[in-house]
Amino acid sequence: MGFWSVVLFTLLACASVSISDPSDEACLTHLTQSLKDPTNSLQNWTKSNFANPCYGFTSYLPGATCNNGRIYKLSLTNLSLQGSISPYLANCTNLQSLDLSSNQITGPIPADLQSLVNLAVLNLSSNRLDGEIPPQITMCAYLNVIDLHDNFLSGQIPQQLGLLVRLSAFDVSNNKLSGPIPVSLGNRSGNLPRFNATSFLGNKGLYGYPLPPMKTKGLSVLAIVGIGLGSGFASLVLSFTGVCIWLKVTEQKLALEDGKISQLMPDY
Ligand SMILES: *[C@@H]1O[C@H](CO)[C@@H](O)[C@H](O)[C@H]1NC(C)=O
Ligand SMILES: *[C@@H]1O[C@H](CO)[C@@H](O)[C@H](O)[C@H]1NC(C)=O
Ligand SMILES: *[C@@H]1O[C@H](CO)[C@@H](O)[C@H](O)[C@H]1NC(C)=O
Ligand SMILES: *[C@@H]1O[C@H](CO)[C@@H](O)[C@H](O)[C@H]1NC(C)=O
Ligand SMILES: *[C@@H]1O[C@H](CO)[C@@H](O)[C@H](O)[C@H]1NC(C)=O
Ligand SMILES: *[C@@H]1O[C@H](CO)[C@@H](O)[C@H](O)[C@H]1NC(C)=O
Repeated sequence: MGFWSVVLFTLLACASVSISDPSDEACLTHLTQSLKDPTNSLQNWTKSNFANPCYGFTSYLPGATCNNGRIYKLSLTNLSLQGSISPYLANCTNLQSLDLSSNQITGPIPADLQSLVNLAVLNLSSNRLDGEIPPQITMCAYLNVIDLHDNFLSGQIPQQLGLLVRLSAFDVSNNKLSGPIPVSLGNRSGNLPRFNATSFLGNKGLYGYPLPPMKTKGLSVLAIVGIGLGSGFASLVLSFTGVCIWLKVTEQKLALEDGKISQLMPDY
């Protein structure tokens, strides 16, 4: 490399430092690669805009909001987005709010989101996300809102989420979660906002306060006895009816045959 090209490179680098951020650029580039946009909703989300997405608080990218030249809010809701969430989303290190709700996004919630130390709002509700809730997101100590309702998330609710003292909204309803609700979330102590059953409903295997107690163990014994008695009685009734019908039919047949016989018999 010649002297002038080094100077030119340095000048270019200096010029671009003030207007673009390589982390945000990596974040946006990877996110558009992992998401699928069949309805072409992310119209201005092009490579040329990733290098320089911000002017003031405004962004050339619909759904993105800027502060100090960095992306601090991403709100891409109800845009029929598919595909998955790139782990490189974690490169948007100034992100405070991530809302990808009401799309058809699949795959897991990347554990890498743990490096979003400023994240306050995480709304991934009404998608098709699967896998477990990564306990690592507890590293996002400012989390205020975790809304993951209406997905296919499985496994247990991480105990560690109880450490998020700023949490004021939490919703994991309508997933495939199982196991006990951590007491640190289900029955929060002190003045921390409490979450009612609405936050946890619609998960077949999930149990514990504040969900209404499952009486399956007590019920199942009764249920088995009930089903046994019920079906016993039912089969008794059925066989009785069967016998009755059989008797009736035979009676009719006999009567018919009697008639036939009496018809064949000549009258004297
Ligand atoms: C993006 O994040 C990855 C993984 O955290 C890291 O290795 C990489 O250096 C980051 N890239 C930029 C441009 O910040
Ligand atoms: C799309 O980006 C260009 C810059 O590349 C900008 O001039 C234009 O205003 C943007 N459009 C929208 C709708 O933000
Ligand atoms: C979602 O978008 C569709 C059109 O794409 C619209 O009809 C519907 O009202 C939107 N829903 C919400 C909750 O904004
Ligand atoms: C998350 O997004 C959904 C749909 O956009 C919205 O209805 C819900 O209120 C949001 N959750 C929170 C806690 O703000
Ligand atoms: C909730 O916690 C309180 C103490 O903070 C305790 O007295 C109560 O029994 C707990 N309730 C349940 C259902 O665990
Ligand atoms: C549960 O809490 C939510 C707010 O988090 C509230 O809107 C709702 O009315 C509560 N439901 C019950 C049954 O208390």
